[in-house]
Amino acid sequence: MTTQGPRPAIDSTRPHPARVYDYLLGGKDHYLVDEEVARRMPQEAQAAARQNRAFMRRAMAFVAGYGVDQFLDIGTGIPTEPNLHQVVQGIAPASRVVYVDNDPIVLRHAEALLVSTEQGATDYIEADVRKPQVILGRARELLDFARPVCVSLVALMHFIRDEEDPYGIVRGFVDALPSGSWLVLTHGTFDFVPVHALDPGHEPRRMAPYTDHITATARSRDAVLRFFDGLELVEPGLVAAVQWRNDDAAPPQPSGMFAGVARVP
Ligand SMILES: C[S@@+](CC[C@H](N)C(=O)[O-])C[C@H]1O[C@@H](n2cnc3c(N)ncnc32)[C@H](O)[C@@H]1O
Repeated sequence: MTTQGPRPAIDSTRPHPARVYDYLLGGKDHYLVDEEVARRMPQEAQAAARQNRAFMRRAMAFVAGYGVDQFLDIGTGIPTEPNLHQVVQGIAPASRVVYVDNDPIVLRHAEALLVSTEQGATDYIEADVRKPQVILGRARELLDFARPVCVSLVALMHFIRDEEDPYGIVRGFVDALPSGSWLVLTHGTFDFVPVHALDPGHEPRRMAPYTDHITATARSRDAVLRFFDGLELVEPGLVAAVQWRNDDAAPPQPSGMFAGVARVP
């Protein structure tokens, strides 16, 4: 496991995205402050979280099915079974997976992320997506960037504000990838939510006006599509997470997340 500096303490007095998401998924690794934030979110947030997590598993199985065996998962979250490495190593046991998150609670759970197959390998890096070069530098210790790598940014980029250059950050990762690599990305949106269902205090693009500690920006379909500039989105393109290659006979209503999978030409 690769970490930098002293181990940061867990702050249970402020909500954190990883723990709010854990609450939405029905997990147990959160505090009251996180639950309070989640309860103030639009009702569809729980469905959005579950649909997002299910998409992650379908998308990773899809990419592994293309013969990709190297994965860089940024904004990993608190583990829920099966995790990304369990999905892809179930298809290609020699797959190597590097997980990245900046929340100390995810680091605490890293053991669950590091139980790899014997043929494969997993690693955990505590780092911030806003530093692509730092992440890439350390990911290179496990992954070979001369061969295709799948970068996943699942339910992460809405935490990056416009002024922090979200598109430049994603470009920083994509530019490091050889042809035949993949980008898997989901992003929060209000496009599926009727305006009357939102918290009356909401601002049009602010996803989490529920706390001063977590800011998230809802982006429209066009704004999310920009993350895939120069890449080849596979069918069905950028759609609600629940609609992406979902074989369920009667999938539920789309909730709050756009999802896309694209190949690097
Ligand atoms: C909503 S969870 C998504 C978890 C997982 N990717 C999934 O979709 O099931 C978002 C995760 O991104 C992490 N995160 C938020 N901002 C981050 C940043 N600047 N750098 C790295 N990770 C970040 C949070 O700690 C959290 O674990």
